[in-house]
Amino acid sequence: MSATLTETTQLIRPAKNILGSLRLPGDKSISHRYAMLAGLAEGTTKLSNFSTGADCASSLACVAALGATVERKCDGTIEVTGTAGSFHASEKPLDCGNSGSTMRMMAGLLAPHPHTYTLIGDESLSRRPMERIRKPLTAMGARIELTDGHAPITIHGGPLTGIDYATPIPSAQVKTALLFAGFQASGTTIVHESIPTRDHGELALRGFGVELTRSIGQIEIRGGQRLKAITSTVPGDMSSAAFFLCAAVLFPESNLVLDQIGMNPTRAALLDVLTGLGAQFKVLNLEEHNGELVGTIQVTPPKDGLLGATLSGTQSAQLIDELPVLAAIAPYSRHGIRIRDAKELRVKESDRIALVAQNLRAMGAEVTEHEDGLDVPGGQQLHGADIHSGGDHRIAMAFSVAALRAQGESQIHGAEAAAISFPEFYRLLESISER
Ligand code: S3P
Repeated sequence: MSATLTETTQLIRPAKNILGSLRLPGDKSISHRYAMLAGLAEGTTKLSNFSTGADCASSLACVAALGATVERKCDGTIEVTGTAGSFHASEKPLDCGNSGSTMRMMAGLLAPHPHTYTLIGDESLSRRPMERIRKPLTAMGARIELTDGHAPITIHGGPLTGIDYATPIPSAQVKTALLFAGFQASGTTIVHESIPTRDHGELALRGFGVELTRSIGQIEIRGGQRLKAITSTVPGDMSSAAFFLCAAVLFPESNLVLDQIGMNPTRAALLDVLTGLGAQFKVLNLEEHNGELVGTIQVTPPKDGLLGATLSGTQSAQLIDELPVLAAIAPYSRHGIRIRDAKELRVKESDRIALVAQNLRAMGAEVTEHEDGLDVPGGQQLHGADIHSGGDHRIAMAFSVAALRAQGESQIHGAEAAAISFPEFYRLLESISER
């Protein structure tokens, strides 16, 4: 089992305003995919602004254990020299830490290689459902053993055959795992998804030279293709930006600029929701890097407070990582936020529905929990409280934001969890908080 970090507590004091301009570390989803594909590619991949989170370090450590060379340069660039198509055997288990993305996507990338691999994770990851990748990868010809549906996972890899598969739950990790197996299989793999999930896997594969065709709800990838190294700058992480954008819209006088944030349309639903809540955005300097849109965002908060929103269906699926912070700021809105069709939140790094409800109540809020979501009424004033992250990075950060508008100070217990995706979070939040 992988090590857990020592528990720390972070004090959050109320703020008056959010002011400043920041550039954020690279997107976690894109960094994972680039790290994994680089590890298997021919040549040396050079990545600037790679995610600084512990999760993406887990992906880099896995490809290093499989024969890739990973170097961190003094300027922060990561260079990965790949294994040119053949992962080595690994005597030791591959440690995915807290990262579901590493475990699920690596499983797909590894399954076509003729070795036996064991994937392990920390306590939280060892509780998360893995049948969702076992089933389709088994249909392609891999032999995969789970432990009661969870990690540790043993993969007996070997030649795979393409399949035609409809993902039963919206999951970019599962889709990507199948595409990562599919380009190395024989024949063609077709993945159907009824709700469009983030498409970084498709864009990254194309960047590394793999051909695939996309139509509405369907991706088709031919087997027997090879990867070529890339040089790229990873766009700033929209899901990390979400915490600062949500903090900014709580205060009418805020002015926040975030430079070079990933604006991929499958990740930018938060901007639509915050616009619906009354905020205004300017997007400047829109560019494209390896198929990914990147832009500078300036947010102006609503002058008379946030309105309200109902989030369900496709919107819930596309906002899955942003829902905790939206729920955490909902009491400060005028009409509240209602979330449905978000049952997947219960099987993330924690049961995020239960933990959001528990922490909102600790701050004095009224909230109703549903199996697939939450109702958080608006017009509530919260008080500072003892918050428990449950070891979940997004819970620690979401409630740090809620604490900025509370009456009195809050203590975030298990604050160290933020480092899973965003080690700089508290320092940067402090740097833009006016008191
Ligand atoms: C991710 C997909 C989502 C998301 C996770 C990252 C990805 O998970 O919650 O943080 O990079 O593909 P699911 O695939 O389980 O929906």
